[in-house]
Amino acid sequence: MKILVTGGAGFIGSALVRLCLQGTDHSVVNLDKLSYAANLDNLSEVLPNNRYAFEQVDICNPEAVVAVFARHKPDAVMHLAAESHVDRSIDGPADFIQTNIIGTYTLLEAALRHWRSLEGEAKANFRFLHVSTDEVFGSLGDEGLFTEASPYQPNSPYSASKASSDMLVRAWHHTYGLPVLISNCSNNYGAYQFPEKLIPVVVLAGLEGRPIPVYGAGANIRDWLYVDDHASALLRVLEAGRNGETYNIGGRNEVRNIDLVKTICAILDDLLPDSPHRPHNSLITYVTDRPGHDQRYAIDASKIEADLDWVPSVAIDEGLRRTVAWYLENRWWWEALRKRGHKDTRLGLAVGQ
Ligand SMILES: NC(=O)c1ccc[n+]([C@@H]2O[C@H](COP(=O)([O-])OP(=O)(O)OC[C@H]3O[C@@H](n4cnc5c(N)ncnc54)[C@H](O)[C@@H]3O)[C@@H](O)[C@H]2O)c1
Repeated sequence: MKILVTGGAGFIGSALVRLCLQGTDHSVVNLDKLSYAANLDNLSEVLPNNRYAFEQVDICNPEAVVAVFARHKPDAVMHLAAESHVDRSIDGPADFIQTNIIGTYTLLEAALRHWRSLEGEAKANFRFLHVSTDEVFGSLGDEGLFTEASPYQPNSPYSASKASSDMLVRAWHHTYGLPVLISNCSNNYGAYQFPEKLIPVVVLAGLEGRPIPVYGAGANIRDWLYVDDHASALLRVLEAGRNGETYNIGGRNEVRNIDLVKTICAILDDLLPDSPHRPHNSLITYVTDRPGHDQRYAIDASKIEADLDWVPSVAIDEGLRRTVAWYLENRWWWEALRKRGHKDTRLGLAVGQ
């Protein structure tokens, strides 16, 4: 199958492209505008593959997106391109509205035009998989899990923009018949995650002996999934999911932020026995909480487990150890991002908003 992957130079998109090219026979067209969060180094191991093509295109550009469909005639779309960092959405929501909402609309229109031009099996088998987040469901209290039937209650500009995009995808299915699938996944972690997100922030601060920032009291709970497990779930949804359905994806790994940070500190202690910064948990520093910080996310993954026979393969302790080791062994990757201008500064305090 030839899959048009949007956002394939980002964190999850690149894991998906690597899986498609190394673990399946699928071809990939990676459509990515190369925002600050993109990194073609994430794809260096698959770049020479003749089943891979790259299109540097903004999903908000209708002519360019239509041209990509015409040039490559994909059998399916996996839509991951997005602005993805909640803290940035607090400081500057405009990019999130533009890419996540207008960009998804633009892509849907191009996909619909392409799908209408298909015939027979190609038309019947075409799928548009929209990759979304559990953050659209808002925040949980101490009890309960998000199911596919949970009401949408987004609280941040990021989650509101993703919720809007989910609704557009739903509408293009019900109104125009476009064959779609929607997935809502919990927090991902793993190699190649841009160092503005919690886990790489903690690893790099610990490694360099800088304060390790923990928002508020660190009591917020997230449900963590290893990125390669998310990629395998997405392929499973694309290949076996039922047209028009939504699937929640999660690893049943609820952890309080402070416990996650302490676990990473313990792994750093273990992997860096000669570090002058041991014990790394002495670097933990509580900082002002994120405005509107959702308390708890937790996914009920029963539907994808039962209907599509998918389960995650990497337990959180193993996944965290692999991830920390990867950042220690791949300095070249994050040092190159710093040379490009990435700074380890705090974002998302709503200053000036
Ligand atoms: N990271 C998570 O924990 C998580 C969890 C659930 C769902 N998701 C969703 O998965 C998707 C990928 O997340 P990620 O963490 O890999 O994000 P990321 O920020 O690492 O990557 C996003 C990619 O999209 C590209 N992009 C951004 N705007 C674009 C535009 N206008 N046109 C074309 N390309 C554009 C960027 O260049 C980048 O390569 C997003 O849709 C996100 O909402 C993420």
